[in-house]
Amino acid sequence: MKNICIINGPNLNLLGKRETSIYGTTPFETFLQNIRNEYKDITIDYFQSNHEGAIIDKLQEVGFTADGILLNAAAYTHTSIAIADAIRAIKAPVIEIHISNIHARETYRQHSFIAPVCKGSISGFGLDSYRLGIEALLKNA
Ligand code: DQA
Repeated sequence: MKNICIINGPNLNLLGKRETSIYGTTPFETFLQNIRNEYKDITIDYFQSNHEGAIIDKLQEVGFTADGILLNAAAYTHTSIAIADAIRAIKAPVIEIHISNIHARETYRQHSFIAPVCKGSISGFGLDSYRLGIEALLKNA
């Protein structure tokens, strides 16, 4: 396990500013710096886009070379068959990540199109969900 790619979907570029009571006050770049320091042996690539097609392009780009992918598809989790198909098409194991516990929120957030095609899902631990995702990849990929 050497190369992990974190892919964040729409509105996650606003972490730290966006609905802080749900998503916290830490910008993702700050958190990323911390986990890169914590996991020095791993190359952690990071990509964020507000566009569904760009997320699919990134999954296709890294999906045959990365050792694992952490994907927080954000609202596309609940709508995107195209992202689910991209996950099906690639070789790298994908772990579904959510900062909030999507099962404790609105009904429309409780269904995930990507969960069935991911290796597993981690939801509800704040930004620590991503670190737990790295641990899961290290132990189970
Ligand atoms: C989210 C949960 C989604 O329902 C929401 O649309 C997001 C963030 C999370 O990380 O908790 O944008 O994926």
